[in-house]
Parts: sequence; C-alpha cells; structure tokens
Amino acid sequence: MNRPEADTDRILAAAADRFGTPAYVYLTDVIEARLAALESAFGRWFRLSYAMKCNPNPALLSWLADRVPYIDVSSGGEFVLATDAGWSPARASFTGPAKREVELQTVIRAGLGELVIESLREARLADRIAGDLDRRQDVVIRIAPDRVPKGFGDQMAGRPSPFGIDIEEAPAALTEILALPHLRVAGLHIYSGTQCLKSAAIVENWGIFIGIFRALCETHDLRPDRLIFGSGLGIPYHPGDAALDPDEVAAGAAPELDALKADPRFSATELVLELGRYLVGPAGYFVTRVISTKDSRGARIAICDGGMNGHLAASGHFGMVLRRNYVMHRVGENDGASEEKIDVSGPLCTSIDKLGTNVVLPRVEDGDLIAIHASGAYGPTSSPVNFISHPTPREIMAEGGQLTDATRIEGAGLRG
Ligand SMILES: Cc1ncc(COP(=O)(O)O)c(C=O)c1O
Repeated sequence: MNRPEADTDRILAAAADRFGTPAYVYLTDVIEARLAALESAFGRWFRLSYAMKCNPNPALLSWLADRVPYIDVSSGGEFVLATDAGWSPARASFTGPAKREVELQTVIRAGLGELVIESLREARLADRIAGDLDRRQDVVIRIAPDRVPKGFGDQMAGRPSPFGIDIEEAPAALTEILALPHLRVAGLHIYSGTQCLKSAAIVENWGIFIGIFRALCETHDLRPDRLIFGSGLGIPYHPGDAALDPDEVAAGAAPELDALKADPRFSATELVLELGRYLVGPAGYFVTRVISTKDSRGARIAICDGGMNGHLAASGHFGMVLRRNYVMHRVGENDGASEEKIDVSGPLCTSIDKLGTNVVLPRVEDGDLIAIHASGAYGPTSSPVNFISHPTPREIMAEGGQLTDATRIEGAGLRG
C-alpha cells in the first residue's frame, strides 16, 4: 500500500491548499526518526556529515544545523548557503572535482574545516592560496578505489572517473601533498558510489575503504584525525523496492569497524559517514495538482501543474537507465473510487515530461492532488525549473502540523 499515514496526507493537502502547487513538502518528523535510526545503528563508530547537494534548502539547513555535526559542501555557493544557515565554517568539508581559485580562496579565508583534495592540481593551488593567506589548511585526500561492488545505482569510481585521486596514483600523490608546507593532511575520504539497497554490497564497499585507509596510513605513517566514508546508503524509490535495514548493514560491518577502532594507529581517529539522500529523501513529497484529465486512445492521462520541470528525478532523467515510476498516491481520503491505471504527465510541451506510466490510483479527476514519495533529495535544485517559465515548486517545511513556506527558487512563472 502506497498511502502514507492519514496525518501525513492531511499535511500534504493543507500545504497544497495554503501555499499552492507544485510543492515539495519536507516532514521533519521523518528526518528526526531517520537520525535516531542512524545513531542507533552506526553511532558507536560514526558521526554524520550531511551532503547538502541533495537538498540545500536554507530552512532545512538551519534545522539540520542543530542536529548533525558536519556538513559537506560541493561549491563556494553551497559554502555560503551553509554558513548563512548557521553552520560554522569549521564544521564544513568541501568536495568537488573542479574547485575554482575564487572558491578555494573564499573557503580557506573563511576558516573551512577540511578541504577534500581531489587532484594534485587542487593540492598545489590550495597550498599556494593558504600560503598567501598565511594559513595552514587541513585537508583530507579523496581516493578513488579501483573497485565498486555491484549494486550501486551510481558508481563514482572503479573505472575512469573525474572524482578523487585514483588509488593507483595515491601513494605518490600523498608523498607530494604531505610535503606541501601550507596543507596539513588530516585524513582520507572515499565516496565511490551511492544509491545502494543491498546491505552486503555496502558492507563490502566499506571493507574496500578500510583496506585502502589502512594501507595508505601505514605506508605514509599517518595517524589520521578523520576518515570519511561515503555511505552509499540508498532509499526505495519505486514500487517493489525494499528499504535497507541499517541494523543489518551495521551487523555486517561491525567486525571490520571494531577492528579499525581497536587499532592503535586509529585510536584517536574520528570516523565520519557522509550521506545525503538516506537522511532526507524519504522525508519529502512532491505534490502536483491535476489541471486536466484526458482519455486518449485507450489510456487515461492526468496532466499536472508540475512535472519534469519541478522533479527531474521522478521523470527518469536524473541518472536512471530505464524510467520507472516513483511510488505515488492520490492525496485525500479514499472515497471508494475504484482503482485504475493512469499516466501522469506535467505541463511541458515535450513528450519526455512524464511522472508516471500505468500508475494504479483511485480514479483521478481534475483538481486532485498527486503526491510523489521519496522526493526530499535531488528535487528542485536538480530540476530544470525555469524551462517554459511555469511556477517553480514551493518548498514547505512541516514541523509536526506547523507549515512554513521555505521556498528558495523564484522563477518567472505566474502564480495564483
Ligand atoms: C562526494 C559526495 N558526497 C556525498 C554525496 C551524497 O550522496 P547521497 O545523497 O546519495 O547520499 C555524493 C553524491 O553524489 C557525493 O558525490
């Protein structure tokens, strides 16, 4: 059954009626519960770092600032958003394969916690900038492993990749970086894949990380402050996807993580789990209103006010090989309408603007609301919101029953 709790459904309907559609609604209770589950499964080893690329909404960032120790930013712009939302620069790390000089200058001057070095070019540039500012910048070195287990929806290593320093090059690169006078190597970082729903694959991947961390730290006699693990934890998006069980991941990873912690070389090392979607993805719904229904050559189509322009990922154009429907439901009490198959499309004049095909929903009429689940990550900022100048999605924070308009992006679309 795809319907959420009745309370959630009432919140979605209230948000749409009060603030308009299309709208993303973020339920903080869900994030709170996920934080608790992460702490219970992984808290004995890891502290969390929120990868804000998945959802940089300023209201959400401020809410998270009191609840998550660290934040990972991937551009100078994200750094500014994070610090404006209340994160001190010292709690931030900065990843990204194409950091520009102006960005490095800005973050180093502001007191960034850790720069995640992804290439020798970046290390040399950061060293010069830190020297000019009379600083010594803490860095962690991002390593790209030569292998990622099967089961990751998005693989960022194990083949030619722009991300990080390939493991084959890492020993020589580390030797050079360790000799740079204005950088201090505080640790290592690996983020090699994400969107994995198989606990055994995540355990295996963390095992690969641990092998690399141990080998490099031994070769270079490092006692790192930090080892950053890219979590890879995925979330269910499509009907039939089974959610990961964090306790199962923890049970599988325990022997190697316990052994790492017990090793004197790592006794003062903080382990950090970097993640985005797992924390906030399931907390968000995308609510779109049916403007028109059409029966067309045997198919029924709901044409909505927000589609691919507001939610690229649900349309299948954000890194999905085969388009599959996201889980969705018709908002509002089940009025006894019989279920039927319907295609769900958006307002754009292109045939790729589809949010669902053959979705089974209670009969949908003009004016109804459809809510797409698992939409709290990679939503508005990952979507072509300005295409054809329709209203950009509202972003609504729902803390308990309290709704706040937290819309960040205003386009040229006419509202009302
Ligand atoms: C370096 C890095 N950290 C964190 C993330 C966040 O991934 P996710 O939202 O899947 O947890 C990504 C995603 O691509 C990433 O590249």
